Amino acid sequence: MTTPVRKKLIEVSIPLEAINAASAREKSIRHGHPSTLHLWWARRPLAACRAVLFAQLVDDPSSWPDRFPTEEAQEAERRRLHKVIEAMAPWEASNDEAVLNAARWEIARSVAWGLGEEPPARGDGQAILDYLQTKAPPVYDPFSGGGSIPLEAQRLGLRAYGSDLNPVAVLIGKALVEIPPKFAGKPPVNPKSRAEAAYGEIRAWKGAQGLAEDVRYYGQWMRDEAEKRIGHLYPKATLPDGSKATVIAWLWARTVRSPDPAAKGAMVPLVSSFMLSTKEGKKAWVEPVIDAAAPEGWRFEVRTGALSKADEERLKKGTKTGRGSNFTCVLTGSAIDGDHVKAEGMAGRIGARLMAIVAEGQRTRIYLSPTPEQGALAATAKPGWEPEGDLPNDPRSFWTVQYGLKTFASLFTPRQLVALTTFSDLVTEAREQALAHARAANIPDDPRPLHEGGTGAEAYADALATYLAFALSKLADRGSSICTWFTERDSTRPTFARQAIAMSWDFAELNTLLDGTGSFASAVQWTAESVEAQGFGGKIASIGNIDAAKNSFPVRSVVISTDPPYYDNIGYADLSDFFYVWLRRSLAGIWPDLFRRLTTPKESELVATPYRHGGKDQAEPFS
Ligand SMILES: C[S@@+](CC[C@H](N)C(=O)[O-])C[C@H]1O[C@@H](n2cnc3c(N)ncnc32)[C@H](O)[C@@H]1O
Repeated sequence: MTTPVRKKLIEVSIPLEAINAASAREKSIRHGHPSTLHLWWARRPLAACRAVLFAQLVDDPSSWPDRFPTEEAQEAERRRLHKVIEAMAPWEASNDEAVLNAARWEIARSVAWGLGEEPPARGDGQAILDYLQTKAPPVYDPFSGGGSIPLEAQRLGLRAYGSDLNPVAVLIGKALVEIPPKFAGKPPVNPKSRAEAAYGEIRAWKGAQGLAEDVRYYGQWMRDEAEKRIGHLYPKATLPDGSKATVIAWLWARTVRSPDPAAKGAMVPLVSSFMLSTKEGKKAWVEPVIDAAAPEGWRFEVRTGALSKADEERLKKGTKTGRGSNFTCVLTGSAIDGDHVKAEGMAGRIGARLMAIVAEGQRTRIYLSPTPEQGALAATAKPGWEPEGDLPNDPRSFWTVQYGLKTFASLFTPRQLVALTTFSDLVTEAREQALAHARAANIPDDPRPLHEGGTGAEAYADALATYLAFALSKLADRGSSICTWFTERDSTRPTFARQAIAMSWDFAELNTLLDGTGSFASAVQWTAESVEAQGFGGKIASIGNIDAAKNSFPVRSVVISTDPPYYDNIGYADLSDFFYVWLRRSLAGIWPDLFRRLTTPKESELVATPYRHGGKDQAEPFS
């Protein structure tokens, strides 16, 4: 007997306005959103994924003429189902068990009716979940990227499968849907939490809360340990009254040899803006001062106070003239054209000079002139390791290559490389600690590592290392020389402020050992929060590393829900290498298959990248 194909709600109507509104609102949600677990490009809004999945699985009432015999009855039922979607689409519904159970029940009802059965009772959340996990068709996304569709399938109680060609995407998917259910409801293993429990502070660790608490504990340990190892590279600044203040950021300007013979070969600054703070009442800026006694005949001086509109406009231009990489020589006022900057960059002759220091004041930022000591100290940072690999020669998404910043390593200052390498080493050390603690905490003895499906102490330590390495990714995003100073906010922009690695002329090097934005401590917080927020429904979930053009996940009778790559808009593989080269250092032993290559696979990526295929026309077949 063949099962009749029943029309699904999505084929007839869905409440688009409500779904679009929830999707648009979601863009402003940060805390706990999966986008804060790890950056991925072109993530679909969860609201849309959730609503579409629901409507793909729930039958349109016209499929059941015996139950909804008239047009009116069908329309009334459709309106009722739309109300269920409207209630579950908003971000606030993500962990609202009552709303989710109502949605799960509707899916279970369609499945049950199709099987000639009755659905579990509406109020019995566990029975509904059990029913969906065994009887509903699994959902599969063959281009799972940042994991939005599998995550929402899981939230709706369905078996969730996903795959992607890109190992970074696969790891994000695993961290989002595959790993948390393995350790659901387990208390943290760290000694602090265990001591608290021993003193009677018993708390119920729901979902991934225990795991998140351990991410916080070992992340904090890494931060403290890093301070012991590299704290000397982040010296305090001396304020005008002689007191000391913690440095939040060092602001640098790239320099190039002036082409004007009158400048006698001096290196001069390439600055896109001299403004440091444009906040009303707190204006701060840099003035380049011609001083024969200073190195190269000029120095930077930081000034604060009142500023005329005209002066602010002048300062906002830095030494830049117009678009692109055209500048003016601060010494002679002559033009420095883009070709000169590119040629000097390609010859490896672009330098950097400290432009300003941002220090911590009483609930305010203090902007200070650079000192030779602070500049010299940064130069003492000697990285013992740097990531391998060249940036792709793709001028559309990698703007630095034409200026000689051609490798992943060249995107970082020596001090940034030292910091990232130190934290990367500490991921491995934190894993060792967590393993010992997990064993002491009597996590079941399962010698299999996480990548082989383990659920014991080894696997738990692997899971923690994975999340801690994600915090390292955030540090890299906030800690490269592409990060510029955000004058309106007194803070920095991340490397990926856009879907490209842009060229920066003046850049901000943050103090990674602090607690604020861009620090390792804040990266850990964001990671832990997003782990904790994933209140999953179903437990059966798996994400694989598969080229969709050649293969698919070995699951049968699936509902495919996907969002494939679009033509040539994003070079996922190239962009993700920025993270891959760092993740690989910490996680190659934990995820050997995902990190067996030096960089992510490019050949079979279904993206029509003109630079990779020798032009737009040749790239067409890959879209
Ligand atoms: C539009 S994105 C998916 C985004 C995802 N829905 C989300 O919300 O994060 C498309 C994905 O297709 C992947 N991709 C490109 N070529 C592929 C291939 N041949 N096989 C599998 N995945 C591929 C990319 O790595 C990217 O993650």
